[in-house]
Amino acid sequence: DRSIKIAPSILSADFADFGREIRAIEAQGADWVHVDVMDGHFVPNLTFGPPAVKAFRPHVKTFMDVHLMIAPVDPYIDAYAEAGADMITAHVEAGPHIHRTLQAIKATGKMAGVSLNPGTPAEAIADVLDLCDMVLVMTVNPGFGGQKFIHSGVEKTRKIRQMIGDRPIHIQIDGGVTPETAPLVAAAGADVLVAGSAVFKGGSVGNPDVYGKNMRAI
Ligand code: DX5
Ligand code: ZN
Repeated sequence: DRSIKIAPSILSADFADFGREIRAIEAQGADWVHVDVMDGHFVPNLTFGPPAVKAFRPHVKTFMDVHLMIAPVDPYIDAYAEAGADMITAHVEAGPHIHRTLQAIKATGKMAGVSLNPGTPAEAIADVLDLCDMVLVMTVNPGFGGQKFIHSGVEKTRKIRQMIGDRPIHIQIDGGVTPETAPLVAAAGADVLVAGSAVFKGGSVGNPDVYGKNMRAI
């Protein structure tokens, strides 16, 4: 029996007041806090280095899920682990050695996730599933919040759920998740839903609806 977890992305939060924003989303019912790390190289945007993530940590009472949109990944794994990530997710497209990267994440004692861009087929992660606690299916091209949901991610999610079988591996969806698109991916087998702009309207925490029954319906 799967329950749906909601992971608001603080990429859409008020950057001048992360502590307050994190407390507000957790008070509203967030299950995880999703942190989008961007390097201006793997994706055309820049966000949080390890010191920023470390500063978020004491405010996060639930689970801090760190999505690395950076290349290379390996030189920074220890720094994000030490900053207090509970889960570290790396992109399969970020380098030639995703297997080594996932081994390195596991070696820190943190949970490990592997992510696929919209243009990457499900098969790309078939041989690393046993190193993963989570597969992150991107339903936008990574880099920015507020983009439109790419529907091919639904069928990809269904495929990955089949590939996983009965292994205890989460499927997370990131990009364009709203009360309208959430039920599609949940029905296809996703269980962790990232939501940025659907949670933070205009830079402030203002939409408790996204924690409601629509988003959690399977
Ligand atoms: C995109 C990020 C997402 C993004 C989601 O590069 O990985 O987490 O902030 O934002 P929305 O929900 O607005 O698509
Ligand atoms: Zn993300």
